[in-house]
Amino acid sequence: MAAMRFSTWVFLFLFTGLEAIEVSKNYEAPLFVFGDSTVDVGTNNFLPVSQEIKANFPYNGIDYPYSDPTGRFSNGYNIADQIVRVLSYNKRSPPPFLSLVNHASSFKKKILQGVNFASGGSGILDGTGGEYNNTMSLGKQIQQFVTVHSNITELRGPEETADMLSKSLFLISVGSNDILDFVHYNGRYSPPDFLTAIHSTYHDHLKSLYDLGARKFGILSVPPVGCCPLLSYHNTSGGCLEEANAFAQLFYNATEDILNQLSLELPGMTYSLGNLYEMTMLVIEDQYAFVDVCLANKAAVPATPTIFIFGDSTADVGTNNFFPLSLSKAYFPYNGIDFRPESRRGGSAMGTVGAIVMCIPPTILICVVLALSSLKVAVVSIVAVVIGLVMQPCLKYVEKKRWLKFSTNADLPDLH
Ligand SMILES: *[C@@H]1O[C@H](CO)[C@@H](O)[C@H](O)[C@H]1NC(C)=O
Ligand SMILES: *[C@@H]1O[C@H](CO)[C@@H](O)[C@H](O)[C@H]1NC(C)=O
Ligand SMILES: *[C@@H]1O[C@H](CO)[C@@H](O)[C@H](O)[C@H]1NC(C)=O
Ligand SMILES: *[C@@H]1O[C@H](CO)[C@@H](O)[C@H](O)[C@H]1NC(C)=O
Repeated sequence: MAAMRFSTWVFLFLFTGLEAIEVSKNYEAPLFVFGDSTVDVGTNNFLPVSQEIKANFPYNGIDYPYSDPTGRFSNGYNIADQIVRVLSYNKRSPPPFLSLVNHASSFKKKILQGVNFASGGSGILDGTGGEYNNTMSLGKQIQQFVTVHSNITELRGPEETADMLSKSLFLISVGSNDILDFVHYNGRYSPPDFLTAIHSTYHDHLKSLYDLGARKFGILSVPPVGCCPLLSYHNTSGGCLEEANAFAQLFYNATEDILNQLSLELPGMTYSLGNLYEMTMLVIEDQYAFVDVCLANKAAVPATPTIFIFGDSTADVGTNNFFPLSLSKAYFPYNGIDFRPESRRGGSAMGTVGAIVMCIPPTILICVVLALSSLKVAVVSIVAVVIGLVMQPCLKYVEKKRWLKFSTNADLPDLH
């Protein structure tokens, strides 16, 4: 029994490491991010733009690790971070280009892991964001990528650079500010001219990224910007501004058209287009997804010493974790992805998942893991179990010979 227990821990240890290697190996290629505030991770902190398009102060970032207002236009991680987290074991987006160039010593090492060029308030058209003194348009961001490209080429040579970039993901989220500017300030173009300008400029920018070596594009379209307070404020009936939302829908179709066309013309180009309009509308229109917690009206809640909470999953803070048979639990990722690490200090260091894993008899755990893992992982895991089975008697022998002394923990669960 003791031998089996020992080999279980060896197995679990190796298995965890192995999975990490498997995943990270697939995503060595750097990630490059372009666009606006939806994916900006601090670029605007370095720019002389107006305060309205900065986010480096509370309560931005309140759910970010250590409640750090990094310049993300978000309570926590933003879309760029979340995509990185889904694709790899990296925790967040690569850093902003402007923070990397300020640290010449680490610049060369860091750019090989990816760069984020996105700047809040910017757009596809060069004039977009001008009202906020933002000049970091998509075109400017691509100029910065030209620099990074030459730096990588200097480090790795043209062939390896081309190979690396062909495997990299180019994540782009832009267009909202062009529409916001057009509808709000209604200056430079007529509506058809505006759409034509957007279409041809976006096309040319994507083509120049391809010419620089980009092959895999991950593009996000524009959300229903007419529902942003800046614009919905103009609708006296309290709804969204339909004109702006119509542009957002047209923008999706235009982007789809550009990507279709480019992928037919350009060998090796692949893309994925995310429809932020539909995704956001689903959430806005699904009234059941929201609970209006009226505690915002603090005056109506005089000094409340204790709050008792009843209800379902909208207010559950972990009750179902304690019902062994309940299927509606939320103790696995990506639940809690924005939960602050410092809030966990009072609890178990391993968290709920760790605590639950500890309670499952390890033999069952091994069987489950083997059943779910790939062949390679399964083979190495079995080898690990065998190593454990062999090592344990060896260690016993070492101890008997008094070469080493081990202490035994009586609290470890025995195996079944
Ligand atoms: C933009 O920059 C100019 C010149 O630096 C400055 O005078 C102006 O106040 C700035 N505008 C905003 C909105 O910050
Ligand atoms: C990166 O490339 C640019 C343009 O080629 C160059 O001016 C700059 O010095 C390079 N940076 C480093 C750290 O090599
Ligand atoms: C204002 O919102 C309503 C829905 O509440 C919508 O029917 C109407 O078309 C909107 N008006 C404008 C000008 O967008
Ligand atoms: C976008 O394209 C779809 C399918 O081609 C079409 O049904 C829809 O009407 C278009 N939307 C707009 C706003 O033109």
